[in-house]
Amino acid sequence: MSILVTGGAGFIGSNFVLDWLAQSDEPIVNLDKLTYAGNLENLASLQGDARHLFVRGDIGDSALLDALLAQHRPRAVLNFAAESHVDRSIHGPQDFIQTNVVGTFALLEAVRAHWGGLPEAEKSAFRFLHVSTDEVYGSLGPTDPAFTETHRVEPNSPYSASKAASDHLVRAWHHTYGLPVLTTNCSNNYGPYHFPEKLIPLMIVNALAGLALPVYGDGLQVRDWLYVRDHTSAIRRVLQAGRPGEVYNVGGWNEKPNIEIVHTVCALLDELRPRADGKCYREQISHVRDRPGHDRRYAIDARKIERELGWTPAETFESGIRQTVQWVLDHPDWVAHVQSGAYRQWIHQHYAEAAA
Ligand code: NAD
Ligand code: TYD
Repeated sequence: MSILVTGGAGFIGSNFVLDWLAQSDEPIVNLDKLTYAGNLENLASLQGDARHLFVRGDIGDSALLDALLAQHRPRAVLNFAAESHVDRSIHGPQDFIQTNVVGTFALLEAVRAHWGGLPEAEKSAFRFLHVSTDEVYGSLGPTDPAFTETHRVEPNSPYSASKAASDHLVRAWHHTYGLPVLTTNCSNNYGPYHFPEKLIPLMIVNALAGLALPVYGDGLQVRDWLYVRDHTSAIRRVLQAGRPGEVYNVGGWNEKPNIEIVHTVCALLDELRPRADGKCYREQISHVRDRPGHDRRYAIDARKIERELGWTPAETFESGIRQTVQWVLDHPDWVAHVQSGAYRQWIHQHYAEAAA
C-alpha cells in the first residue's frame, strides 16, 4: 500500500511527509511542481530512502496523474499542492486560479477515474483528502464566534476565493460521484521549513539580518496559530478516521494579534541571539501600508475534530514559537538557499510598494 501526496515539497507538505515516514513504513509518492515555494532541501533527510518517491510535475497534468495512479495504486491521495500566499495572489491571481481551481479539478477527475476502476473493497477504503484553509470563511468581527464547519463561505482574497472554489469542487465530487473525500480547513501554521515570505519566518530572518520588521497597518489583525506538526497529526487522524464527505476545522486555540506575534519573536531573539549593539529587536518594527482587503480576524472552532476524532494540538503557542525561532537559528544554510534571486525580487517589489 502507498499514498500519493501533492505539494509535498512545500512547507506543510514536507512536514507531513517527514512525519509520516517517521511513524510508518507505508511509502509516499510525492508529486510537486517545485514552484518558488517547493524545496527539495526540506526532504534532504530522505535521500536514498526507498519509501519516498519524488516526482516533479503539475497536479493539472492529467496524463501524468493517470500514469502515477495506475502505476502506484495509492490507497489515498492527499492534496497539499497550492499557491498559498495572499500577497502574491493580490499581485497576480492567475496562478492561483490555475493551480488551486483548475489543478484541483484535474486532480479530482484523474482520481475519480482511478477510484471508479478499483475493486469494491479498495474502492470503499479509498480516500481523497483535501487540505484547505480557514480563510475560506472570510473575516470575523472582534466578538463573533469562531468559524465552525457550517459557517458561511465568504472568501475575500484571490487566494481564499480560489481555495473556496476548490473546496466546493471537492464537495461536489462527493455528492455527485460518491468520491470518498475529506476536507480540512486549518488556521495559520508556523514551524520548520516555513518559507520566509509569510509573517513569522519573515520577521525572524529580517530581524537577524538587521532589516525592518514590516507590520501591515495597525498590526491588530488576529489570526489563530497552529504549530505545523500539529496540523500534520490532524491530517493523519482525519485520513484514518474521518467520515467521507465531512469537513474538519483544525486550529490551535491561539488567537493572537499580529503585533503580539512580532513582539514574541523579538523577545525570543533578544534572549537566544541578542543584537550586537545590545538594543531590542522591537526597535526594527516598522508599520507599513495595509494589505488591500485585509481580513481582520480568523478564529477556528476545533471542537468537531476533538469530539469526533479525539484530536487536540500537542504544542502551546509558547512551546511552538520557541522551537520555530530556534529552528531558524539552527538552519542558516536553509535560509540562505531559499533567499534566492527570485525571493529577493519579490521582497523588493512588494515592500517597496508597501512603504510608499
Ligand atoms: P507552500 O506554498 O509552502 O507549498 C505549496 C507546494 O505546492 C509547493 O511545494 C509547490 O511547489 C507545490 N505546488 C504549487 N503548485 C503546484 C502544482 N500546480 N502542481 C504540483 N505542485 C504544486 O504552501 P503550504 O503553506 O505548505 O500549504 C499547503 C496547503 O495547505 C495549501 O493547500 C494551503 O492552502 C493549505 N493551508 C496552508 C496554511 C498555512 O498557514 N500555510 C494553513 C491552512 C491551509
Ligand atoms: P501571512 O503569513 O501572509 O498569512 P495569511 O495572510 O494567510 O494570514 O500573514 C499573517 C498576518 O500577518 C496577516 O494578517 C498579514 C500580516 N503580515 C504583516 O503584517 N506583515 C508582513 O510582512 C506579512 C507577510 C504579513
